Amino acid sequence: MLDGQKVSFSGVQPSGNLTIGNYLGAIKNFAEYSEKYKTFYGVVDEHAITVRQNPAELRRRTYETLALYIAVGLDPEKNTLYVQSHVPAHAELAWILNCYCMFGELSRMTQFKDKSARHADNINAGLFTYPVLMASDILLYQTDVVPIGSDQKQHVELTRNIADRFNQIFPDTFTVPEPVIPKSGGRIMSLAEPEKKMSKSDENENATVRVLDDRDTIIRKFRRAVTDSGSEIRRSPDKPGVSNLITIYSCFTGKTPEEVEAEFDGRGYAEFKTAVGEACADALAPVREKYFELLADKGYLEEVMKKGAGTAAYYARKTLSKVRRKIGFVNL
Ligand code: TYM
Repeated sequence: MLDGQKVSFSGVQPSGNLTIGNYLGAIKNFAEYSEKYKTFYGVVDEHAITVRQNPAELRRRTYETLALYIAVGLDPEKNTLYVQSHVPAHAELAWILNCYCMFGELSRMTQFKDKSARHADNINAGLFTYPVLMASDILLYQTDVVPIGSDQKQHVELTRNIADRFNQIFPDTFTVPEPVIPKSGGRIMSLAEPEKKMSKSDENENATVRVLDDRDTIIRKFRRAVTDSGSEIRRSPDKPGVSNLITIYSCFTGKTPEEVEAEFDGRGYAEFKTAVGEACADALAPVREKYFELLADKGYLEEVMKKGAGTAAYYARKTLSKVRRKIGFVNL
């Protein structure tokens, strides 16, 4: 809670072109809190450098991710939209919380295990302690809810453990946050290998649909999506490809998965895949249009960044100075 209001916090790394997984699992749900909650949505550039980034690209993607936040409907007047590295309190609290998080806990993080396997030549300490930075992001704003995809659940659980541990030693410091994962869309799978999560860093372009892909590309990618043997359009563990497409169609049209199965009963895969592509392209067309408009106005995006950083820093400082006082640092 901040100023008597509940708080929603989430973040997206500017580390690649965002996919419909990022959109359906997380970003689309951010706006739900805009009216009743205090909301903070960060472009988390400090997280992105845990793997090597091209500097010019990182900078460009930081603007792009902010533009996309606004394009999907997050009004900068109603939401604090900002860039993580503009608010130094994140890195400061992360150091402190590193001392309240156990090596063993971090060793159990599945994302660390996956990423260190994929980047075996660069298993840096930042990659290992990254969940502590994420805990700092969340705890700095006394967050109540964290809208995320299911792959981030373990990190929010760790955040809760860190908050509980700290609160036990220094009572009433942090709000203990709850993860909020959509029932449908919390884990969108790759179109090429439907046993794998759709990931923005996937090198196979046919595996991912980008929020900014044009209509023809979106429809082509869905037409090429891997489906399963048989021809029935229904959800089942032995039909991961079709199940994923049913989820995606359901998220974009607002129909339940049961309604989708009924709608396509007796119809073929080809027809279904085209329908999914069209539904996705229709839903994303206005986002794309708004995005390109915004990106043409860098000055405006910088104003949003500045205003967001000011608001975020104000609240972050409050929590940080409370923490500093409690642990015995001298506040001047
Ligand atoms: P990131 O940048 O990898 O992803 C951003 C959000 O998208 C969700 N997501 C998905 N949801 C459904 N299906 C998918 N295939 C899919 N892929 C990604 C993620 O779960 C995430 O919600 N560590 C975070 C960023 C972060 C953060 C935070 C999030 C930093 N600090 C504090 C919440 C709170 C990350 O790497 O997300």
